Amino acid sequence: MSEEKDIFILGIESSCDETAAAVVKNGRYVLSNVISSQIDLHKLYGGVVPEIASRKHIENIDWVIEKALSDAGKNFDDIDAIGVTYGPGLVGALLVGLAEAKALAYALNKPLVGVNHIEGHICANYIENVDFKPPYVALVVSGGHSHLLYVHNYGEYEILGRTRDDAAGEAYDKVARAIGMGYPGGPKIDAAAKSGNADAIAFPRVYLEEDSYDFSFSGLKSAVLNYINKKKMMNEEIVINDVAASFQRAVIEVLVTKTVRAAKNMGVTQVAMAGGVSSNTALREYMKEMCEKSGLSLNIPSPILCTDNAAMIGSAAYFEYIKGTRDGLDLNANPNLKLDNR
Ligand code: KG4
Ligand code: ZN
Repeated sequence: MSEEKDIFILGIESSCDETAAAVVKNGRYVLSNVISSQIDLHKLYGGVVPEIASRKHIENIDWVIEKALSDAGKNFDDIDAIGVTYGPGLVGALLVGLAEAKALAYALNKPLVGVNHIEGHICANYIENVDFKPPYVALVVSGGHSHLLYVHNYGEYEILGRTRDDAAGEAYDKVARAIGMGYPGGPKIDAAAKSGNADAIAFPRVYLEEDSYDFSFSGLKSAVLNYINKKKMMNEEIVINDVAASFQRAVIEVLVTKTVRAAKNMGVTQVAMAGGVSSNTALREYMKEMCEKSGLSLNIPSPILCTDNAAMIGSAAYFEYIKGTRDGLDLNANPNLKLDNR
Protein backbone atom coordinates (compact mmCIF):
# COMPACT_ATOMS: atom_id res chain seq x y z
CA MET A 1 0.00 0.00 0.00
CA SER A 2 1.54 3.32 -1.02
CA GLU A 3 1.46 6.11 1.55
CA GLU A 4 0.26 9.52 0.35
CA LYS A 5 2.98 12.14 0.45
CA ASP A 6 2.46 15.00 2.92
CA ILE A 7 2.05 18.43 1.34
CA PHE A 8 3.70 21.39 3.07
CA ILE A 9 2.51 24.89 2.14
CA LEU A 10 4.18 28.16 3.06
CA GLY A 11 1.28 30.61 3.53
CA ILE A 12 1.82 34.38 3.26
CA GLU A 13 -0.69 37.07 4.26
CA SER A 14 -0.36 40.88 4.00
CA SER A 15 -3.80 42.16 2.96
CA CYS A 16 -4.32 44.64 5.80
CA ASP A 17 -2.33 45.40 8.96
CA GLU A 18 -0.87 41.99 9.82
CA THR A 19 2.27 40.62 8.18
CA ALA A 20 1.98 36.87 8.56
CA ALA A 21 3.56 33.60 7.42
CA ALA A 22 2.85 29.99 8.36
CA VAL A 23 3.79 26.44 7.42
CA VAL A 24 0.77 24.13 7.15
CA LYS A 25 0.77 20.37 6.51
CA ASN A 26 -2.02 18.85 4.39
CA GLY A 27 -4.23 21.94 4.86
CA ARG A 28 -5.03 21.08 8.48
CA TYR A 29 -1.91 20.86 10.63
CA VAL A 30 -0.20 24.12 11.60
CA LEU A 31 3.54 23.71 12.05
CA SER A 32 4.11 27.44 12.61
CA ASN A 33 2.00 30.59 12.61
CA VAL A 34 3.88 33.90 12.81
CA ILE A 35 1.90 37.15 12.95
CA SER A 36 3.48 40.60 13.12
CA SER A 37 0.69 43.03 13.97
CA GLN A 38 0.86 46.74 13.17
CA ILE A 39 -2.09 47.63 15.39
CA ASP A 40 -0.03 49.70 17.87
CA LEU A 41 1.11 51.89 15.02
CA HIS A 42 -2.25 52.36 13.30
CA LYS A 43 -4.16 53.04 16.51
CA LEU A 44 -2.29 56.36 16.80
CA TYR A 45 -4.30 57.40 13.71
CA GLY A 46 -7.63 55.79 14.69
CA GLY A 47 -7.57 53.25 11.86
CA VAL A 48 -5.37 51.52 9.27
CA VAL A 49 -3.27 53.96 7.20
CA PRO A 50 -2.65 52.12 3.89
CA GLU A 51 0.70 53.79 3.11
CA ILE A 52 2.09 52.94 6.55
CA ALA A 53 0.77 49.37 6.27
CA SER A 54 2.65 48.78 2.98
CA ARG A 55 5.91 50.16 4.37
CA LYS A 56 5.67 48.03 7.51
CA HIS A 57 4.94 44.89 5.47
CA ILE A 58 8.15 45.53 3.52
CA GLU A 59 10.15 45.87 6.76
CA ASN A 60 8.71 42.71 8.29
CA ILE A 61 7.99 40.21 5.54
CA ASP A 62 11.46 38.62 5.34
CA TRP A 63 11.94 37.89 9.03
CA VAL A 64 8.31 36.75 9.40
CA ILE A 65 8.83 34.11 6.67
CA GLU A 66 12.22 33.05 8.06
CA LYS A 67 10.68 32.63 11.51
CA ALA A 68 7.74 30.65 10.13
CA LEU A 69 10.19 28.20 8.53
CA SER A 70 12.45 27.91 11.56
CA ASP A 71 9.51 27.55 14.01
CA ALA A 72 8.28 24.70 11.81
CA GLY A 73 11.74 23.10 11.67
CA LYS A 74 11.59 23.31 7.88
CA ASN A 75 13.60 24.96 5.11
CA PHE A 76 12.58 26.06 1.64
CA ASP A 77 13.43 22.64 0.16
CA ASP A 78 10.69 21.04 2.29
CA ILE A 79 7.98 23.35 0.94
CA ASP A 80 5.73 22.02 -1.86
CA ALA A 81 4.04 25.32 -2.79
CA ILE A 82 3.76 28.98 -1.83
CA GLY A 83 0.22 30.16 -1.00
CA VAL A 84 -0.40 33.90 -0.89
CA THR A 85 -3.34 36.25 -0.45
CA TYR A 86 -3.91 38.24 -3.67
CA GLY A 87 -7.19 39.92 -2.67
CA PRO A 88 -9.40 41.40 -1.38
CA GLY A 89 -7.58 43.99 0.71
CA LEU A 90 -5.44 47.12 0.48
CA VAL A 91 -3.67 47.02 -2.88
CA GLY A 92 -0.31 48.35 -1.66
CA ALA A 93 -0.35 45.90 1.25
CA LEU A 94 -1.35 42.92 -0.91
CA LEU A 95 1.43 43.69 -3.41
CA VAL A 96 4.14 43.25 -0.76
CA GLY A 97 3.15 39.67 0.11
CA LEU A 98 2.42 38.83 -3.51
CA ALA A 99 5.76 40.17 -4.82
CA GLU A 100 7.57 38.23 -2.11
CA ALA A 101 5.66 35.03 -2.92
CA LYS A 102 6.34 35.38 -6.63
CA ALA A 103 10.05 36.01 -6.04
CA LEU A 104 10.23 32.88 -3.86
CA ALA A 105 8.27 30.78 -6.33
CA TYR A 106 10.57 31.89 -9.18
CA ALA A 107 13.85 31.55 -7.27
CA LEU A 108 12.95 28.18 -5.72
CA ASN A 109 11.08 26.88 -8.76
CA LYS A 110 8.01 26.05 -6.61
CA PRO A 111 4.32 26.36 -7.55
CA LEU A 112 2.50 29.59 -6.68
CA VAL A 113 -1.13 29.43 -5.47
CA GLY A 114 -3.09 32.68 -5.10
CA VAL A 115 -5.63 32.68 -2.27
CA ASN A 116 -8.78 34.72 -1.73
CA HIS A 117 -8.52 36.22 1.78
CA ILE A 118 -12.17 35.44 2.57
CA GLU A 119 -11.68 31.83 1.50
CA GLY A 120 -8.69 31.81 3.86
CA HIS A 121 -10.91 32.90 6.76
CA ILE A 122 -13.37 30.10 5.97
CA CYS A 123 -10.59 27.47 5.77
CA ALA A 124 -9.48 28.34 9.33
CA ASN A 125 -12.34 26.00 10.24
CA TYR A 126 -10.46 22.99 8.79
CA ILE A 127 -7.46 23.52 11.03
CA GLU A 128 -8.34 22.56 14.59
CA ASN A 129 -11.22 20.23 13.85
CA VAL A 130 -9.50 17.90 11.38
CA ASP A 131 -12.74 16.01 10.67
CA PHE A 132 -14.71 19.12 9.75
CA LYS A 133 -15.77 19.14 6.12
CA PRO A 134 -18.47 20.56 3.79
CA PRO A 135 -21.40 20.96 3.39
CA TYR A 136 -22.16 23.68 5.92
CA VAL A 137 -23.44 27.23 6.28
CA ALA A 138 -20.74 29.79 7.14
CA LEU A 139 -21.04 33.23 8.67
CA VAL A 140 -18.01 35.29 7.64
CA VAL A 141 -17.74 38.53 9.61
CA SER A 142 -14.60 40.64 9.39
CA GLY A 143 -13.53 44.28 9.19
CA GLY A 144 -14.26 44.49 5.48
CA HIS A 145 -16.83 41.73 4.86
CA SER A 146 -20.03 40.18 6.16
CA HIS A 147 -21.22 37.15 4.21
CA LEU A 148 -23.59 34.29 4.80
CA LEU A 149 -22.49 31.36 2.63
CA TYR A 150 -23.54 27.87 1.73
CA VAL A 151 -20.31 25.90 1.36
CA HIS A 152 -21.16 23.01 -0.96
CA ASN A 153 -17.63 21.64 -1.12
CA TYR A 154 -14.02 22.75 -0.67
CA GLY A 155 -13.71 25.97 -2.65
CA GLU A 156 -17.38 25.91 -3.78
CA TYR A 157 -19.36 28.72 -2.26
CA GLU A 158 -22.88 29.99 -2.79
CA ILE A 159 -23.40 33.49 -1.42
CA LEU A 160 -26.74 33.55 0.40
CA GLY A 161 -26.42 37.07 1.77
CA ARG A 162 -24.00 39.92 2.30
CA THR A 163 -23.95 43.32 3.93
CA ARG A 164 -25.62 46.11 1.99
CA ASP A 165 -23.52 48.78 3.71
CA ASP A 166 -21.02 48.48 6.58
CA ALA A 167 -19.33 45.19 7.45
CA ALA A 168 -19.97 43.95 11.01
CA GLY A 169 -16.39 44.72 12.10
CA GLU A 170 -16.60 48.15 10.50
CA ALA A 171 -19.73 48.88 12.57
CA TYR A 172 -17.88 47.80 15.73
CA ASP A 173 -14.92 50.02 14.85
CA LYS A 174 -17.08 53.07 14.02
CA VAL A 175 -19.24 52.75 17.15
CA ALA A 176 -16.12 52.26 19.30
CA ARG A 177 -14.65 55.45 17.89
CA ALA A 178 -17.90 57.34 18.61
CA ILE A 179 -17.87 56.25 22.24
CA GLY A 180 -14.19 57.10 22.62
CA MET A 181 -12.71 53.62 22.72
CA GLY A 182 -10.16 53.87 19.90
CA TYR A 183 -9.00 51.35 17.28
CA PRO A 184 -9.60 48.45 16.82
CA GLY A 185 -13.05 48.74 18.31
CA GLY A 186 -14.17 45.10 18.22
CA PRO A 187 -12.08 43.74 21.10
CA LYS A 188 -12.72 46.90 23.16
CA ILE A 189 -16.51 46.71 22.78
CA ASP A 190 -16.30 42.98 23.48
CA ALA A 191 -14.51 43.67 26.80
CA ALA A 192 -16.69 46.66 27.83
CA ALA A 193 -19.92 44.79 27.04
CA LYS A 194 -19.07 42.13 29.62
CA SER A 195 -19.90 44.56 32.43
CA GLY A 196 -22.73 46.32 30.59
CA ASN A 197 -26.49 45.70 30.40
CA ALA A 198 -27.45 44.47 26.93
CA ASP A 199 -31.12 45.34 27.56
CA ALA A 200 -30.40 48.91 28.70
CA ILE A 201 -31.00 50.57 25.31
CA ALA A 202 -33.36 49.25 22.62
CA PHE A 203 -31.24 49.69 19.48
CA PRO A 204 -32.88 48.49 16.22
CA ARG A 205 -32.50 44.93 14.91
CA VAL A 206 -32.31 45.26 11.14
CA TYR A 207 -33.67 42.12 9.45
CA LEU A 208 -34.53 43.67 6.04
CA GLU A 209 -37.06 41.70 3.91
CA GLU A 210 -38.58 38.63 5.57
CA ASP A 211 -36.65 36.06 3.51
CA SER A 212 -33.45 38.07 3.06
CA TYR A 213 -30.07 36.79 4.23
CA ASP A 214 -28.50 40.23 3.68
CA PHE A 215 -27.28 42.43 6.51
CA SER A 216 -27.33 46.17 7.11
CA PHE A 217 -25.47 47.79 9.98
CA SER A 218 -25.33 51.48 9.06
CA GLY A 219 -28.80 52.23 10.54
CA LEU A 220 -27.75 50.66 13.84
CA LYS A 221 -24.53 52.67 13.82
CA SER A 222 -26.56 55.89 13.25
CA ALA A 223 -28.94 54.93 16.07
CA VAL A 224 -25.99 54.62 18.46
CA LEU A 225 -24.56 57.97 17.32
CA ASN A 226 -27.99 59.66 17.71
CA TYR A 227 -28.35 58.18 21.19
CA ILE A 228 -24.93 59.53 22.24
CA ASN A 229 -25.60 63.00 20.76
CA LYS A 230 -29.01 63.25 22.42
CA LYS A 231 -27.59 62.28 25.81
CA LYS A 232 -24.81 64.84 25.43
CA MET A 233 -27.27 67.62 24.46
CA MET A 234 -29.40 66.86 27.48
CA ASN A 235 -26.34 66.69 29.70
CA GLU A 236 -27.27 63.19 30.78
CA GLU A 237 -24.81 60.50 31.85
CA ILE A 238 -23.80 57.99 29.17
CA VAL A 239 -23.08 54.52 30.55
CA ILE A 240 -20.51 53.42 28.00
CA ASN A 241 -20.59 49.74 28.95
CA ASP A 242 -24.39 49.66 28.53
CA VAL A 243 -24.08 51.31 25.09
CA ALA A 244 -21.43 48.74 24.10
CA ALA A 245 -23.49 45.78 25.39
CA SER A 246 -26.77 46.99 23.83
CA PHE A 247 -25.12 47.72 20.45
CA GLN A 248 -23.38 44.34 20.48
CA ARG A 249 -26.61 42.54 21.34
CA ALA A 250 -28.36 44.16 18.36
CA VAL A 251 -25.59 43.02 15.98
CA ILE A 252 -25.37 39.51 17.36
CA GLU A 253 -29.09 38.76 17.43
CA VAL A 254 -29.38 39.49 13.71
CA LEU A 255 -26.19 37.58 12.76
CA VAL A 256 -27.19 34.49 14.72
CA THR A 257 -30.89 34.48 13.73
CA LYS A 258 -30.06 34.70 10.01
CA THR A 259 -27.31 32.08 10.22
CA VAL A 260 -29.52 29.54 12.00
CA ARG A 261 -32.39 30.23 9.59
CA ALA A 262 -30.07 29.73 6.61
CA ALA A 263 -28.77 26.41 7.99
CA LYS A 264 -32.31 25.12 8.53
CA ASN A 265 -33.53 26.26 5.10
CA MET A 266 -30.51 24.81 3.29
CA GLY A 267 -30.95 21.51 5.12
CA VAL A 268 -27.41 21.36 6.54
CA THR A 269 -26.48 20.13 10.02
CA GLN A 270 -23.27 22.13 10.43
CA VAL A 271 -22.57 25.83 10.96
CA ALA A 272 -19.15 27.51 10.84
CA MET A 273 -17.95 30.99 11.69
CA ALA A 274 -14.99 32.94 10.36
CA GLY A 275 -13.34 36.37 10.34
CA GLY A 276 -12.18 38.78 13.04
CA VAL A 277 -15.65 39.41 14.53
CA SER A 278 -16.12 35.68 15.10
CA SER A 279 -13.53 35.97 17.88
CA ASN A 280 -16.20 37.99 19.78
CA THR A 281 -17.06 36.31 23.08
CA ALA A 282 -20.77 37.12 23.13
CA LEU A 283 -21.26 36.14 19.47
CA ARG A 284 -19.56 32.78 20.06
CA GLU A 285 -21.71 32.09 23.13
CA TYR A 286 -25.03 33.12 21.57
CA MET A 287 -24.34 31.23 18.33
CA LYS A 288 -23.50 28.12 20.36
CA GLU A 289 -26.71 28.43 22.38
CA MET A 290 -28.95 28.91 19.34
CA CYS A 291 -27.26 26.15 17.30
CA GLU A 292 -27.70 23.73 20.19
CA LYS A 293 -31.39 24.63 20.41
CA SER A 294 -31.78 23.88 16.71
CA GLY A 295 -29.78 20.65 16.72
CA LEU A 296 -26.98 22.15 14.62
CA SER A 297 -23.32 21.46 15.27
CA LEU A 298 -21.13 24.56 15.40
CA ASN A 299 -17.47 24.98 14.44
CA ILE A 300 -15.55 28.13 15.36
CA PRO A 301 -11.77 28.50 15.05
CA SER A 302 -9.78 29.69 18.08
CA PRO A 303 -9.71 33.51 18.29
CA ILE A 304 -6.11 33.66 16.95
CA LEU A 305 -7.26 31.85 13.79
CA CYS A 306 -10.32 34.11 13.39
CA THR A 307 -8.35 37.35 13.04
CA ASP A 308 -5.89 37.74 10.16
CA ASN A 309 -3.19 35.04 10.01
CA ALA A 310 -1.34 33.00 7.40
CA ALA A 311 -2.20 29.50 8.67
CA MET A 312 -5.66 29.98 7.15
CA ILE A 313 -4.00 31.02 3.87
CA GLY A 314 -1.82 27.88 3.95
CA SER A 315 -4.94 25.80 4.48
CA ALA A 316 -6.90 27.43 1.63
CA ALA A 317 -3.86 27.14 -0.68
CA TYR A 318 -3.66 23.40 0.06
CA PHE A 319 -7.26 22.75 -1.03
CA GLU A 320 -6.63 24.78 -4.22
CA TYR A 321 -3.28 23.01 -4.76
CA ILE A 322 -4.76 19.51 -4.64
CA LYS A 323 -7.44 20.61 -7.13
CA GLY A 324 -4.60 21.60 -9.45
CA THR A 325 -4.73 25.38 -9.11
CA ARG A 326 -1.41 26.98 -10.12
CA ASP A 327 -0.83 30.67 -10.72
CA GLY A 328 1.67 32.33 -13.02
CA LEU A 329 4.12 35.06 -12.14
CA ASP A 330 1.68 37.48 -13.79
CA LEU A 331 -0.80 37.04 -10.91
CA ASN A 332 -1.85 40.56 -9.85
CA ALA A 333 -3.26 41.89 -6.60
CA ASN A 334 -7.03 42.37 -6.80
CA PRO A 335 -8.31 44.66 -4.01
CA ASN A 336 -11.94 43.82 -4.87
CA LEU A 337 -11.54 40.08 -5.47
CA LYS A 338 -14.87 38.23 -5.14
CA LEU A 339 -15.32 34.72 -3.76
CA ASP A 340 -16.53 33.41 -7.11
CA ASN A 341 -13.71 34.94 -9.22
CA ARG A 342 -11.95 31.63 -9.93
O1 KG4 B 1 -10.69 39.33 9.86
P1 KG4 B 1 -10.00 40.54 10.38
O2 KG4 B 1 -8.83 40.35 11.32
O3 KG4 B 1 -9.53 41.45 9.22
C1 KG4 B 1 -10.26 41.65 8.05
O4 KG4 B 1 -10.16 40.79 7.15
O5 KG4 B 1 -11.02 42.65 8.03
O6 KG4 B 1 -11.15 41.39 11.11
C2 KG4 B 1 -10.87 42.60 11.75
C3 KG4 B 1 -12.16 43.11 12.35
C4 KG4 B 1 -12.04 44.50 12.96
O7 KG4 B 1 -13.14 45.27 12.53
C5 KG4 B 1 -12.10 44.23 14.46
O8 KG4 B 1 -12.66 45.31 15.20
C6 KG4 B 1 -12.99 42.99 14.50
O9 KG4 B 1 -12.58 42.22 13.41
N1 KG4 B 1 -12.78 42.24 15.74
C7 KG4 B 1 -13.75 42.04 16.66
C8 KG4 B 1 -13.15 41.33 17.73
N2 KG4 B 1 -11.83 41.11 17.41
C9 KG4 B 1 -11.63 41.67 16.18
N3 KG4 B 1 -15.04 42.40 16.67
C10 KG4 B 1 -15.78 42.07 17.75
N4 KG4 B 1 -15.27 41.42 18.82
C11 KG4 B 1 -13.98 41.02 18.86
N5 KG4 B 1 -13.48 40.36 19.93
ZN1 ZN C 1 -9.32 39.17 7.40
